[in-house]
Amino acid sequence: MIKLHNLEKSYRTGAGETFVLRRISNEIRKGEFVSIMGPSGAGKSTLLAILGMLDGDWRGEYHLLGEPVHALKPKARIELNKRYIGFVFQQYHLIDDLTVYENLEIPLSYRNVKRKEREALVADSLDRFQIVGKKDLYPSQLSGGQQQLVAVARAVIAEPAMLLADEPTGSLHSTQGRMIMDLLKQLNREGTTIIQVTHNEQYAAYGDRVIQLKDGWIVDE
Ligand SMILES: Nc1ncnc2c1ncn2[C@@H]1O[C@H](COP(=O)(O)OP(=O)(O)O)[C@@H](O)[C@H]1O
Ligand SMILES: [Mg+2]
Repeated sequence: MIKLHNLEKSYRTGAGETFVLRRISNEIRKGEFVSIMGPSGAGKSTLLAILGMLDGDWRGEYHLLGEPVHALKPKARIELNKRYIGFVFQQYHLIDDLTVYENLEIPLSYRNVKRKEREALVADSLDRFQIVGKKDLYPSQLSGGQQQLVAVARAVIAEPAMLLADEPTGSLHSTQGRMIMDLLKQLNREGTTIIQVTHNEQYAAYGDRVIQLKDGWIVDE
């Protein structure tokens, strides 16, 4: 699914060059469920953003489903993102002037799902995430935990081949957290490749293996 070879990212600062990711090489197979762990500032969110094609400023090689992402133009990368990837942002990134219902519809509209089917899928999703009562509210009218539920629902509604989730349970209490993890596990059983960032050992154990990042390096597997 994913092949990384010597992926690197750095920022130019007054003092010179600061590396955030160093020689990241790894392979993630189709159907795997991988957890990325490591201290704050280790580069976890940066790595996930690169994998999700939300950050195009890096060096090295990245193949997704055989496509050389490193050689693609921004427009082609966006197309890959829309076609294959669901992304849960650490800070949710719901669209403020759309309702919960409308936020959930967005990934479906990217894939040209017809209106009738869109309605059915959004209704299912509201049900599954127990947010039916919130469908006409705007993100600012929701608690952090509720926004996170909507963010996860939006990321998985179009059944992406790959789900990238940056601390998808960070704002949830433990019952909701386990509900989300059980749901991810179920999606993974149905074939979705999942890469999650988590600080929680218990939630990491839902996956097949852990990639440990420290100061931008993979330190241990
Ligand atoms: N725009 C930026 N300029 C310089 N350094 C940055 C910038 N954005 C992020 N960083 C640095 O990159 C490092 C990795 O950040 P991040 O990927 O968010 O870490 P994590 O998700 O593991 O906590 C941090 O040290 C952070 O300060
Ligand atoms: Mg982070």
